Amino acid sequence: MLSVLDLKKMKANNERISMVTAYDYPSAKQAEQAGLDMILVGDSLGMVVLGYESTVEVKVEDMIHHGKAVRRGAPNTFTVVDMPFMSYHISLEDSLRNAAKIFQETNAQSLKVEGASEEILHFIKRLTESGIPVVAHLGLTPQSVNVLGGYKVQGKDKAAARKLLEDAKKVVENGAVALVLECVPKELAEVITESINIPTIGIGAGSECDGQVLVYHDIMKYGVDRLPKFVKSYADFNNLGIEALKAYNSDVKQKSFPTESHSFFIKSNDILPDSK
Ligand code: KIV
Ligand code: NA
Repeated sequence: MLSVLDLKKMKANNERISMVTAYDYPSAKQAEQAGLDMILVGDSLGMVVLGYESTVEVKVEDMIHHGKAVRRGAPNTFTVVDMPFMSYHISLEDSLRNAAKIFQETNAQSLKVEGASEEILHFIKRLTESGIPVVAHLGLTPQSVNVLGGYKVQGKDKAAARKLLEDAKKVVENGAVALVLECVPKELAEVITESINIPTIGIGAGSECDGQVLVYHDIMKYGVDRLPKFVKSYADFNNLGIEALKAYNSDVKQKSFPTESHSFFIKSNDILPDSK
């Protein structure tokens, strides 16, 4: 299991950090077996495995339910769990209570929060002081999709680019152990990466971040119809799954499955009751 110090060392040694989302036992098991450095139990689970419209509908209970399954599948992989929409905004006390609940019940290594407002920065500081490592998330922050007006690239003008760099420095000052940069121009992600001493983990942020994260279902093309520009798919579970189910359906209809080889048998017919 990597530690937060290992992650910093990897950045210092210019060694890329690989991260993938996972939401359940089998995907977490695969991620660990494939040797990924980190797993994110992203609140993207709301969209990719629960079929919600956005991450806004995800609850603390959803994160705990899925987080626990992931930890069982990948007990030896550094796992980050997202704090869901509005679970860290109402009051500091409420936010700390929610964080403690998610962290303790999932037994995760870190929690992730979006944004860098004064309140969020203070929250990052308090969590760090309490012993909960925090991964920050800047750029496109999907929990604010309704305020941002859509899933758009962030930091495209001078003021926004400056603000993003300042925010990145602030999350570091308040104790964040890594920073996810989502949908940020490559050049800006590079400047931010060079300006801070914690690893940046990019998604739609170009090739110069210290690490990379993708959504499991995007990598596998599994249950997702349209893929953003920044995704590279490595499999086609949609087709594989549909083809397998079609073949199964047809075997059942044609009575060609199950066969003798899939069946159990008794030793002697005289133990059978009469049919009727
Ligand atoms: O929820 C998620 O999958 C994420 C990644 C896109 C970084 O936050
Ligand atoms: Na997320």
